[in-house]
Amino acid sequence: MSLMHLRYGHVGRERTHLDPRGVCMPRYRIAWLPGDGVGAEVMDATRLVLDAVGLDAEYSRGDIGWEFWCREGDAFPARTIELLRNVDAAMFGAITSKPSKAALDELAPPLKDKGLAYRSPIVRMRQLFDLYVCLRPCKAYPGNPLNFKEGLDLVVFRENTEDLYAGVEFSPVPPELSQTLAKLAPAFAPFQDLRPDDYAVSCKINTRKGSARIARAAFEFARTNRRKKVTIVHKANVVRASDGVFLEEARRVAADYPGIQVDEANVDAICMWLLKNPANYDVLVAPNLYGDIISDLCAQMVGGLGFGCSGNIGSKLGVFEPSHGSAPKYTGQNKVNPIATILAAKMMLDWLGESAKGRAVEAAVAKVLEEGRVRTYDMFGASTCIEMGEAVARSLPGDRKEGR
Ligand code: IPM
Ligand code: MG
Repeated sequence: MSLMHLRYGHVGRERTHLDPRGVCMPRYRIAWLPGDGVGAEVMDATRLVLDAVGLDAEYSRGDIGWEFWCREGDAFPARTIELLRNVDAAMFGAITSKPSKAALDELAPPLKDKGLAYRSPIVRMRQLFDLYVCLRPCKAYPGNPLNFKEGLDLVVFRENTEDLYAGVEFSPVPPELSQTLAKLAPAFAPFQDLRPDDYAVSCKINTRKGSARIARAAFEFARTNRRKKVTIVHKANVVRASDGVFLEEARRVAADYPGIQVDEANVDAICMWLLKNPANYDVLVAPNLYGDIISDLCAQMVGGLGFGCSGNIGSKLGVFEPSHGSAPKYTGQNKVNPIATILAAKMMLDWLGESAKGRAVEAAVAKVLEEGRVRTYDMFGASTCIEMGEAVARSLPGDRKEGR
């Protein structure tokens, strides 16, 4: 899969870059963010594969996750943000999130009355680094016993920085806001007499720029990877203002790609159609929340949590992760399927421009699945997380098993 169209400019050091002692420096600097829960396990398994494929990289570990929230009041500390400013790409495992009250209860005592509020680090990271593309390929690899249908090869482009994820939310609702809404929006009438605590407002903000750039990323991907069709997902028949902007901009971009079939679908309808006729779909592009939802649906059709991988890509940085969470109940059991993280690493290789290595990793995953000898519990097997990583590393095509 070529992802070069998503890169702007040079990534990585020149091959000949020397440190002050004249030693050749690794080509890439990768932030390594295991997070918590099963994050560390899936990342360890993935590292076996990256090392075996011989990526010329130095990995810098970064602090992120629940323990840093509890200890420092920040799950995404400033030093980790600084690290991300100085790397070519990042691999990210998983982190635990808890509802607001539980999060406050677990804060270290001296931090409890400081008015801290937990916000998902991955959402912050996407916004802070303007990682506006969320790329989620969902492919049914032959031999995966969890495939819903064989032959599926869907790619979701989810807008990653705005929409209902903008973080502009009110609970309780300030009187200035309710007064303004009462003045400007006739549809607000049924709510205007509610007490501030009796309702909440979350703003769905979709910009022309944000909508156009995700649409452009999806159509460029379709063009460079010889995909036939792009489906624009929306709900503009009801959410007229913000989805209207998304749809208008996506249509405008589509007009620049006459060779690619364009299709439009309401988000509710596409959930039915995807289940009924998934083979009719190819590339899908959606605003943030709809993209979040349909990408889980698509991932489930090709094996579920253990197979959903995600690339968060901006103009300077790409952060690659499994779509699953930290699965606290499996933590420390070396049990979960690391394939989602390994496929995320494959995406990172593609994005870095190391597409031969990317192809090698994907071929190795496909081989392990096809053979069916190594299977984690989700695939009804008894192999461990690390055994799966070892199996993929061993299955790399001969000339890619460097250092062996
Ligand atoms: C995802 C996840 C995140 C999201 C959560 C963990 C904040 O569901 O990456 O799809 O909602 O974007
Ligand atoms: Mg999600």
